Order: sequence, then structure tokens, then C-alpha cells
Amino acid sequence: MASASSCLSLLLVVAPASSASAQLSSTFYDTSCPRALATIRSAVNAAVAQEARMGASLLRLHFHDCFVQGCDASVLLAGSERTVAPNLSLRGYEVIDKIKAQVEAICKQTVSCADILAVAARDSVVALGGPSWTVLLGRRDSTTAADMNTVLNSLPPPSSSLAQLIREYGNLGLNPTDMAALSGAHTIGLAHCPNYRAHTYNDANIDPTFARSLRANCPMANNTGGDVTAPLDTTTPARFDNAYYRNLLSRKGLLHSSFSTDNTVRSFASNPSAFSSAFAAAMVKMGNISPKTGSQGQIRLTCSKVN
Ligand code: HEM
Repeated sequence: MASASSCLSLLLVVAPASSASAQLSSTFYDTSCPRALATIRSAVNAAVAQEARMGASLLRLHFHDCFVQGCDASVLLAGSERTVAPNLSLRGYEVIDKIKAQVEAICKQTVSCADILAVAARDSVVALGGPSWTVLLGRRDSTTAADMNTVLNSLPPPSSSLAQLIREYGNLGLNPTDMAALSGAHTIGLAHCPNYRAHTYNDANIDPTFARSLRANCPMANNTGGDVTAPLDTTTPARFDNAYYRNLLSRKGLLHSSFSTDNTVRSFASNPSAFSSAFAAAMVKMGNISPKTGSQGQIRLTCSKVN
């Protein structure tokens, strides 16, 4: 009798590929720019060696790109999406610009900024000790940025309910397991006081000693503490591991979480390899959100502006 997993692989083989992901391919640049991936990897490794947090920032850039209007590098366009509230704390643009310049130097107008973001996100996770996955390639860059309302409606705020989050991720083809796995990205990087203030002052599901230590540097009054930061994972802030889930179970998560006692959280907390494979699979799915392919969009020469 076929096992559940072999049934699943069969389904994956015979199910018609969605038009969004059908045109992406891991070998997309093999002929047109064979050195592209190695060039991106060494630039990411250098940036992360200089500042470990940059790995977190590059991963978050890819997430904010994909959730808003698809993975089309619209987030990189200067002066538009970047200026909408949830994007104000994004960073790493100059690293992407530098990588793009290096890639342009070897292959003129061939590798998209959207693909550079997707590969840089994967290489960042690997550089910080996390899992690897095969990045599907062939995205093209948008010629327009999303407007303010689209950005605000596309990026769920930390205060979202579980039902809202499940619906929003579901609309993008990501199931609740993908959602739980992607949240594990908060095992690296920092958050600013205004984003964890309410959790530390108002929420019940936070360890009191942990909350007190955070409040010491994050004043209660709104419009204060804007520059104060704390690691999203206090135990291993620069290591991509499953500590985010263990922190949730011990009520030491920095951000408000709607699913901190969920069974998936328990499973990822106790089983690092279950988390690694779920995270890798979910990143591939996130990278498949509405890519521009074929003759859509363009290959930008500079990631911060349209040609
Ligand atoms: C409901 C979904 C999510 C919410 C509400 C959320 C919220 C946040 C917030 C508030 C911050 C701190 C920003 C700051 O204060 O500077 C943050 C940081 C971060 N997020 Fe998320 N996030 C979500 C999903 C994701 C996903 C899907 C990923 C990646 C796959 C991700 C990766 C990161 C990373 C790596 C950082 C640290 C960035 C840095 O240090 O520069 N987040 N997130």
C-alpha cells in the first residue's frame, strides 16, 4: 500500500503546476549567467561576516517584497513602498545595490533584482547556520511600486488575530504550517521598541522577568524609544535555529504572537529538523508568490529605480 508521503509526491508530480511558479526554474541562469549565484553568495557572506544582523535584514527584505504585489523587487524602488510605515525599518538596500553592481559587471541586464533578493535571503539563512534550499529563478522586476494602502493591507501587523493571519497567508497560497514555519525567521535580527512595547506592557502571555528587562529600555509612552532595539531571539540572536519556538513556549517571545501554544510551535521547538525542512519548503512557496515572468516587467539595471 502506498504510504501517505508517496501519495503526496505522486500528487505533486501529476498536479498541474500553477502558472505563477511554472516558469520559475532553478537552472534559469545556468547558460545566461553561470556565475550569478556564486557572486551573490560571496557578497552575502561578506556582508554577514561584517555584520551578522544583515542576514536578518536581507531575509526580511525578501518577505516584504513577496507579500506586497508579489516577488517583483517593488520594495527596492526608492521613495515609494519603502516609505510606508512597516517598511521604514527595512534595511540592506545598499547591500542589494552592491550585489546588483557586481552581477551587472559579469552579465549585463540579465539577473533581476527580485531573483537577487530571493537568493540573498537563502544565502543569509545559510550564512547564519540555517537550512538551505534550491531557489527557483526567472522572476522579473516590476516597473511600478505598490501604493500605501496596498502595502498596509498586504503586510499583517503583529496585532493580527490568528484567524486573520491564516486568511492572509492562505490568500497567498501559504498554509498554517508554512505560516508557523516562516515566523521562525524571527530567530534572527532585531525589533524596535514601538513594535514590542504593547507586548511587554499589556500582554499576559509574557514571562514577567523578561518583560521587566525589556521595559527597562523601552519606555511606556508612545513616541519614545524609537531607536531602542532588542533581539527577536534573546538566546541565540545571530544563529538561525529553532530557539524562536522554544522562546515562545517559555513566554519569552519579543513580539506578540497569536499562536504561541499551537501544536506546530511545540513540534518545531522540539524538533529542529522538522522546523528546518518546513522553513525551507515555505520559503520556496513564498518565493513563488505572483512572480513576473516572460515579457512582464523588466530586468532593472539599478535595483532602486526603473530603467
Ligand atoms: C505576520 C507576519 C509577520 C509580522 C507581524 C512580523 C513583524 C515583524 C516586526 C514587527 C519586526 C521588527 C521590525 C523592527 O522593529 O525593526 C520584524 C522583524 C523581522 N522579521 Fe518579521 N514579521 C512577520 C513575518 C515575517 C516573515 C514571514 C519573515 C521572513 C520569512 C520575517 C522576518 C523578519 C526578520 C528576519 C526580522 C529582523 C530584521 C532585522 O533585524 O533587520 N518576518 N518582523
